[in-house]
Amino acid sequence: MQPIGVFDSGYGGLTVLKELVKKMPQYDYLYLGDNARAPYGTRSFESVYQYTLECVKHLFSMNCSLVVLACNTASAKALRNIQQKDLPLIDPAKRVLGVIRPTSEIIGNYTTSKHIGILGTSGTITSGSYKIEIEKFFPEIQVHQEACPMWVPLVENGEYNSPGADYFIKKNIDQLLIQSPQIDCIILACTHYPLLINKIKQFLPAHITLLSQGEIVADSLSDYLIRHPEMDKLCSKNSKRIFYTTDASESFDQQAEVFFGQAVKSRHLSL
Ligand code: DGL
Repeated sequence: MQPIGVFDSGYGGLTVLKELVKKMPQYDYLYLGDNARAPYGTRSFESVYQYTLECVKHLFSMNCSLVVLACNTASAKALRNIQQKDLPLIDPAKRVLGVIRPTSEIIGNYTTSKHIGILGTSGTITSGSYKIEIEKFFPEIQVHQEACPMWVPLVENGEYNSPGADYFIKKNIDQLLIQSPQIDCIILACTHYPLLINKIKQFLPAHITLLSQGEIVADSLSDYLIRHPEMDKLCSKNSKRIFYTTDASESFDQQAEVFFGQAVKSRHLSL
């Protein structure tokens, strides 16, 4: 089996995997959540890079030729180094893709005012990766950003529906919207945030479009595999899904269903 590897710091990438499976059910997928070391969002550049590289190497050793970093923080802080420095040494035939570029490529289709908002972890926001990528495709777009450091812990701890979540969600949305009354589109630039979508909508004016990344990444990967038949050949198609977590598999399975939308049976991976 040669599955497509899907990596996240914890559960968030399951919201992307769910859409990959929906769009391309024929492929085999191997998900790895580094729950033991999540969240990544407040960690240093060096730690996120080292942790991500270690997990990518595990996915390669489990026969994945193509790995998707279904994590904005890892895409922001580790992807470029892995693609440019590590892959040529490890195996130039393997590929690692992220979630920031596919989102940046299409964002122009969703804004009329040319003012967009980014909500993400502190790591993603301070990296400036969205500003840099969006500038390449849509230099006319003004990017406003807000870090939401409490949102991933709320989700990882199962508090995403609690009244306590409201305080932090409203606070960060208000801080984003105050930056420009013209914002007409907001990217949920963290794969954990789709679980907060109903609460986020409560605090947003109705005219603002809210984009989460699952479908965008699925469309982009499908397009990539059509454009790269040599990579497509290296991805087996038996509709198998395998889940690994670096933490306890029992607790992973309990939480994962909410993100993936189906029951999950994971295995533990020791790093
Ligand atoms: N889900 C990840 C992202 O998209 C990060 C969560 C974390 O802080 O570990 O950024």
